Amino acid sequence: MSLHLGDIAPDFTAETTEGTINFHEWIGSGWAVLFSHPADYTPVCTTELGTVAKYKTQFDLRKTKVIALSVDDLDSHKGWIKDINETQLCNMNFPIIADPDKRIATLYDMLHPNATENTTVRSVFIIGPDKKIKLMLTYPASTGRNFDELLRVIDSLQLTANYSVSTPANWKDGEDVVIAPSILDEDIPAKFPKGHRRVKSYLRLTPQPNK
Ligand code: BEZ
Repeated sequence: MSLHLGDIAPDFTAETTEGTINFHEWIGSGWAVLFSHPADYTPVCTTELGTVAKYKTQFDLRKTKVIALSVDDLDSHKGWIKDINETQLCNMNFPIIADPDKRIATLYDMLHPNATENTTVRSVFIIGPDKKIKLMLTYPASTGRNFDELLRVIDSLQLTANYSVSTPANWKDGEDVVIAPSILDEDIPAKFPKGHRRVKSYLRLTPQPNK
């Protein structure tokens, strides 16, 4: 199945290291990050899961739940978690989905046969409170993900969901943002009372409205 931005994230029920979940119910009214790993007991994945465990409060601040998936079974995940905690000096604090029959990996098109034989690539899905897919990323198995970038994208998505703005290249929370082209020049002062800078008719910047 090929998924696109704006599609409803496929729902599923699955065993995880924190019990059985129904994905949409588990997401609840907030945001979610679903990210897949090629396999348990692999070095890069071990560092990624440790990093996310240490970033958990940053995700919590953004009302965003995180959940990992690997195509191994629950016993394997539970053993691996001990290694993750030991080697990454963390306390695993989010669930890992067991997907030994690759049911969910197939549902989310996480298996890329040209990249790996029968394991998932490093897919990332950010899902909004409306259960729609807001971002999809695919990394090769050899490259660990940048979780600062995921937090940055969540900041952008949550800002642009509420204001008529978009975020420019390399934007970080607190920096100026771009006013949507749909906003007429004459409506800007009322909508963006902090002021604005008109670089071109199509490029108008304003301080981040929710700061
Ligand atoms: C890793 O997580 O280190 C890894 C997994 C599969 C292939 C290459 C690296």
